[in-house]
Order: sequence, then C-alpha cells, then structure tokens
Amino acid sequence: MAKQGPRQAGTVLFREVFGTAPGIGASAPGRVNLLGEHTDYNGGPVLPIALDRRTVVHARPAHGFRFVSALEPGVVERGIEEGPRGHWTDYLVGVLRELAALGIELQGADVAVASSVPAGAGLSSSAALTVSAATAFAALAGKRLGPEALVDVAWRAEAGYAGVRCGRMDQTIAVFGRPGKALEFDAATGDRRMVPFPGTVRMIDSGLRHALVAGEYEHRRIECEEALRRCQRIMPDMTSLAAIPVRALPRIGRALPKILARRVRHVVTETARVHEAVSALGRGRSMQFGALLYAGHESLRRDFESSCDEADAIVALARKAGATGARLTGGGWGGVVIVLAPERSADRVVMRIQEGFAKQYGRIPQQWSGKASNGVRIESGGAG
Ligand code: GLA
Repeated sequence: MAKQGPRQAGTVLFREVFGTAPGIGASAPGRVNLLGEHTDYNGGPVLPIALDRRTVVHARPAHGFRFVSALEPGVVERGIEEGPRGHWTDYLVGVLRELAALGIELQGADVAVASSVPAGAGLSSSAALTVSAATAFAALAGKRLGPEALVDVAWRAEAGYAGVRCGRMDQTIAVFGRPGKALEFDAATGDRRMVPFPGTVRMIDSGLRHALVAGEYEHRRIECEEALRRCQRIMPDMTSLAAIPVRALPRIGRALPKILARRVRHVVTETARVHEAVSALGRGRSMQFGALLYAGHESLRRDFESSCDEADAIVALARKAGATGARLTGGGWGGVVIVLAPERSADRVVMRIQEGFAKQYGRIPQQWSGKASNGVRIESGGAG
C-alpha cells in the first residue's frame, strides 16, 4: 500500500463507496512461518510470527450484504445462503455462515476491506481476512468471540466454505501473535508457547503466485493421507505423520513408494527441526537457528517438492551473500523467501540477493522487512 496504512485506506474507501463512516473496524496480521512447513495438517508443530502487515475490515449494519476491496474495483452484492464463487468474497461469506451457525446472525452489512498483506505471497492474506472479518462481524452483532472460537470460525470459513483444506497455523497466529515473539503451536494437542524472536525478518518475493485451492497443496495433503495409511500398516499406533520417530525413517523408506517416503521424511525431519529451533531461539543461538532454516528449505525442495526454481535461487544467493538462514515460507510453489541476517549486514545481504536474482531472471525481486507483531484487534467502535 502506498503512503497511508490499510486502516486509513479502508475508512476512506468505505466513505467513498457507502457514503458514510464505518461503524466498526477490526484488523488482523499476515504472518511468516519461521519453520514447520506442511506439518500443521500432519499433526506437527509450527513456528510462525505475526507480521506488522495487516488486513482491516470495516463494516456497518445494512439490508443485505455489499463488499468492496481496496485491491479490486467494484462492489460485490451477495446473499450468504448462496454457494462459493471462487472469489475473494467467499472468505467473508464463509465467515458470516460460520457465525450464523453459532447463533450470531447479521441481516446485512456494508463491508470494506483494505490490506498491506500481499496476496498469494505465502504470507497468509486469507487468514488475515477471515480473522479480521469474524471479529468485525461479531462486534457488529454486539458479540465478542473468545480467541479459540475465533480461530475456529476463521478456519472453518476457509477449510469448509472457501474450499482450501488448510491446517490451523495461519488463523492461530493471526489471533495469538505478539510483538517480539514467535508462536510454537502444536497442531496435534493445540498447545501454544511463546518463544523469543526480537529480530527482523527480510522477505524476498519470488514473484510467483500460487493457487492453493486447485493446486499442489491439496495434492500433497492427499499424498500425506495415503502415506499415513501405509505407515499405519507397519506401525499401527501412529496417529499422524509427525508422530513418527526419526529412527523409523529407514524402515518407512523400504516399505513405502519412493515419493510417499520422501513426503514422510520431510514431515518427520521438519518436526524435529522445529523442536531444535525452539531450543536454539530460547538460547539465542542464531547461527544454529539459521542452519535449521537452510535445512528446512532443502527438505521442501528435495523431499516435499513444494519449492520452485526462483525460491531455490534466492536461498542459494542468500547463502552466498552470508545470510544466517533462508527458506521458502508458507504454502509453497512461489511466494516469499525469508532471509535472516545480522542487522548490520542485512541491507547488504538483501541487495546482493536482488542483484544476483536480477542477473538470472531479468527483474529485481520485491523485498519487505517485518518484525513479530500483535494479533487481531478492534480498530474502532463495536463491542470492544
Ligand atoms: C498454508 C496453510 C497452512 C499450512 C501451510 C504450509 O499456509 O494455510 O495451514 O499448511 O500452508 O505449512
């Protein structure tokens, strides 16, 4: 977003389109996942931070629903009983339906959305939207959802109505994010623990955009489900891929088709890496933490095959430029590579990566930096 932040942009847009001030505003952050990729839907741990980039949803009671976004021209009118359209407003309709299922029913609302979270970049723009929308809509009805219920509504809207069978990482960090902290979230038990992360993350955009709904993400989920069924034939007690111990990998390698064995190896080693990373962060061991990021990327590239050439190039350039760690973050097949480097050399590292990338691909990749920030909040008005 240009000069003004999404909060101001959303208020201005609301006035322009609906001719009045919004009654309520709520915002939620995008995220970067530091480590623990494709583990959440396999019963494993993740380690995201909430970003200082946010999506703001402004709303006011009305007859029927009208939606507008700062990112797209036009006002969209929809009824909440209709089916999904494969459109960004599906996320809002999904949230309204989930709230209605909890007895929080709105007759109508005018809604304006503005955001500084780049869409499709692996920074979880969709959870920023569902979590902020659920908060704003509940407040419009004079209700306030507890944090767990909020995660649930947002996750159901996306995994159910919008049709992306995602895990719960993105909604969880959008609700529970804290400044200076990463969140270790165990998808199997629901346990959450804050881990110190005072540093700055650099993000380099590969420029490739993924489509989670139809794409490889769903394909990997199906592979993981099939892999678990086969693992259970030889290890009947295993309830998830993440529960498999590293020492069982050679046996699994012999028993499963090669591709499925590689998917399992990614989930199992990634789970171990998150645990190591949490202890490295707790002790302030940034070199060890960075090395785990590089190893995580290699595992995505080779075993989970969810990377892309541009992301691999950025990681290789980061290593050459002296970054302490780098890896593709989020769903995969494009989006953002996170880069960690000591503050004094980070600008130089990023510049070198951009130059090297421009030589290979003929364009300078966009870059952002971010720090661990707060989760969802009410911006103005509402039940508080
Ligand atoms: C997407 C999903 C998350 C998670 C990541 C991969 O962001 O929404 O639930 O599965 O991909 O780690």
